Amino acid sequence: GPLGATPTEILVDGETVTALFVPGSLPEDLRGSLRDGPDSSVDRVIDATGKYVIPGGVDVHTHMELPFGGTSASDTFATGTAAAAWGGTTTIIDFAVQRTGEVVEESLAAWHAKAEGQCAIDYGFHMIIGGVDDQALKAMDYLVANEGISSFKLFMAYPGVFYSDDGQILRAMQRAAESGAMVMMHAENGIAIDVLAAQALARGGTGPVHHGYTRPPELEGEATNRAAVLARVAGNCPLYFVHMSASEALAVVSAARGAGHNVFAETCPQYLYLSLEEHLGAPGFEGAKYVASPPLRTNTASHHDDLWRGLRTDDLAVVSTDHCPFCFRDQKELGRGDFTRIPNGIGTVEHRIDLVYQGVASGRLSLPRWVETCATTPARMFGLYPRKGVVAPGSDADIVIYDPAASTTISASTHHMNLDYSAWEGFQVAGKVDTVLSRGTVVVAGGEFHGRAGHGRYLRRGLSQYLR
Ligand code: URP
Ligand code: ZN
Ligand code: ZN
Ligand code: ZN
Repeated sequence: GPLGATPTEILVDGETVTALFVPGSLPEDLRGSLRDGPDSSVDRVIDATGKYVIPGGVDVHTHMELPFGGTSASDTFATGTAAAAWGGTTTIIDFAVQRTGEVVEESLAAWHAKAEGQCAIDYGFHMIIGGVDDQALKAMDYLVANEGISSFKLFMAYPGVFYSDDGQILRAMQRAAESGAMVMMHAENGIAIDVLAAQALARGGTGPVHHGYTRPPELEGEATNRAAVLARVAGNCPLYFVHMSASEALAVVSAARGAGHNVFAETCPQYLYLSLEEHLGAPGFEGAKYVASPPLRTNTASHHDDLWRGLRTDDLAVVSTDHCPFCFRDQKELGRGDFTRIPNGIGTVEHRIDLVYQGVASGRLSLPRWVETCATTPARMFGLYPRKGVVAPGSDADIVIYDPAASTTISASTHHMNLDYSAWEGFQVAGKVDTVLSRGTVVVAGGEFHGRAGHGRYLRRGLSQYLR
């Protein structure tokens, strides 16, 4: 078979994988029932000959219904998780949000209320701590011990919204170092960015491309380094950098990992493929479709190549989407004439498995690294393994059959996200999700959706399984 693939037969009972057989080792009674059909002990046989059978994708960075910039992300938990399933993702971890002045437990309850009974696939939560104070620090411990939330996102960007200063970050990291929780960092120097953005607007630079010019990669690198230093000072707090976009930031992570620290990072498809010039700098207001933070990077430097290298070397351990969709017509529009008012985010939850597979198809990534970065490692990173992220006896039967011989073209006219455009419009994809099982239930097959809102269950997570 293809490099990295092994022919296997998989037995599923109810919601769980119960056995794997290498060819020829299938017991005679089962072998017989595969032939005999209806009156056998096996209810259903799915033939995946010539296709890859991989663990369901685990997308650890989504923002369903996120209130941001005077509007809310356009995918609900119902539409966003159905779209995820279409694309071979069977678990998401979404970001519940606590803002300054809010009680963490109440913010979490509000997030549960949005998701409960709505999800087509299983889901967990990270908690954004937007207001680090004594009460929030105590709540972090409570969430780890009682709510199955073992990871907390802090922001060095967005002053006045989610921003934490260095003192707040240090205190949260000290707390996390004690409990073993993971701090997830949005590493951009938001104070400096706000100065550059105000200066750009004052000069008449109002269009989407200025979002990119005013958030230079140096300010991601600087914040990444500062966070890594603070984590060390805090007593080696486990640290995970979200949505890494820049060579400067990756270099910091490589050095910290080389020195043996519990430092990890993810990137997202947009930072592997899209650029400041071609996309954010598109004519007119088109660039608003590609406004996300950090911004798409210039294609005159080596960001894309460096990120692909990071995926190969494991300095980038995970590919998530940072799925945060806003419609072009009525939401991105809020920032026409002032790029700082464009809601930040791109919607990709449906396309992550396909987009990373292009790395395999083009020889940039091995087949096992595709599975690791999209399913196995994110599950381990956030305490879901081996229930998720692997096809093995005892694990949930979250299984994707992927057809490497098929192909598709991404378009807003055929995607399932609640989004009126696609950042990936016209993108040619080699390979295609064929069949998707979530806990033993077929949710996608034969080009049809068989899932339902409410099938997905809340996942209580343990600590990261990568800590030393
Ligand atoms: O632009 C982005 N990334 N929007 C979502 C919020 C965040 O910072 O992850
Ligand atoms: Zn962020
Ligand atoms: Zn995000
Ligand atoms: Zn809309």
